Amino acid sequence: MKTAEQMELLYEISAEDGRSMQDGFWFTSKTLEPLALQPYGFKNVDLALLKDEAAIAKAAESIVEVVSAEHGKAMFEKLACMGCHSTGQQVDGMYGPPLQGIIGKKREFTDGSSAVANEKYLKESILDPPVRHVKGYSGEMPSYVGIVSESDLESIILYIKSL
Ligand code: HEC
Repeated sequence: MKTAEQMELLYEISAEDGRSMQDGFWFTSKTLEPLALQPYGFKNVDLALLKDEAAIAKAAESIVEVVSAEHGKAMFEKLACMGCHSTGQQVDGMYGPPLQGIIGKKREFTDGSSAVANEKYLKESILDPPVRHVKGYSGEMPSYVGIVSESDLESIILYIKSL
């Protein structure tokens, strides 16, 4: 470990009795004391494994990046997209345009240009704060660069297509 402004530690654990726990905590590590894990009940921790390339590669293999509409729906809720976009056709009270059936639809922009919404357009809309604004809207769409991973983005697009 080294000193850092911010650290985030998220965990998802299944207890022996089958219950699951999911949470996280956030902290600043400024003063680092020598690591002593045994008093806390962690036995035989082999810190050398943290630098063992082969062990790291093996652990990484077990992380499966899910790409599915279902995961996309979860991200859509988690990232608060649903606070601004209707997944139906609702316009009233929503900051952003409704997203149901958007693929293949002609989008008209405030500068008079237009485009047909395809996957590339959806990606751009999510990653690049729109250079062109959809008619009737202004630039209140935040950029999600660095917030969504490539596979999250694909899942979100699958979900939008499924609406
Ligand atoms: C704070 C409100 C807000 C949030 C949160 C938000 N959006 Fe948007 N979004 C907008 C607005 C407003 C526009 C129209 C922007 C413009 O054209 O200037 C837009 C545009 C879009 C478009 C293009 C729509 C069209 O009609 O052409 C897509 C796709 C989109 N958003 C997806 C998402 C996704 C996915 C998320 C979450 C990861 C998200 N948005 C989060 C407000 C929001």
